Amino acid sequence: MNKKGFIFDLDGVIVDTAKYHFLAWQKLAKSIDVDFTEAENEQLKGVSRVKSLEKILEWGNKSISEDEFMKLMALKNNDYLSYINEMDENEILPDVSRVLNFLIDANQGISLGSASKNARTILKKVNLYNSFEAIVDGNDVIKGKPNPEVFLKAAKALNISPVDCIVFEDSVAGIQAANAANMISIGVGEKDVLNQADYVFKDFTELENSFLNKLIKNK
Ligand code: BG6
Ligand code: MG
Repeated sequence: MNKKGFIFDLDGVIVDTAKYHFLAWQKLAKSIDVDFTEAENEQLKGVSRVKSLEKILEWGNKSISEDEFMKLMALKNNDYLSYINEMDENEILPDVSRVLNFLIDANQGISLGSASKNARTILKKVNLYNSFEAIVDGNDVIKGKPNPEVFLKAAKALNISPVDCIVFEDSVAGIQAANAANMISIGVGEKDVLNQADYVFKDFTELENSFLNKLIKNK
């Protein structure tokens, strides 16, 4: 039997939470008099909460105390969670459920591999918590993407060798992490942005079951 490990990023792959991260970071940036654009938000995809705030402060030329830093992180997360609280399964991105169900029916290993510390909360809100055999998130890793730690831990949790794993990612840092882990990297988004990926699909509606079957059988 061919059993592969399919590892899914969360934000931007399973649900479109980037818009909520943007709103929360924008509000926070405004409160400290820093301009924060959607283009800058793009650069925060896949980047941890701590690193994201560091970057925003760097772009705004601000330096703050450790205490203030922790306070701002908590403020941002509370604001972000107020959006997450309103989420339900309607926010699952198109065809994600079809792909997950296909892989579950094919007895494949399925794990989450996310930088978010809110991953479990979000999966429960959209009713996908039980679709994953393993969940590795921002609470489980020391080194963020592009470091491969999160995906290597996911492979280990599935008990599947990294070369038999396939990663779905929407961020450049995540694709780099998958490549560094020696896994097949599948970009979900724009080809010119995710040009380091082994394959790129605009979204899951473009990814057919026959392609999934090939991934299961061919490697
Ligand atoms: C990633 C997002 O999945 O998780 C980033 O792409 C985010 O934008 C990171 O900063 C950490 O998320 P959280 O929920 O722990 O603040
Ligand atoms: Mg993502």
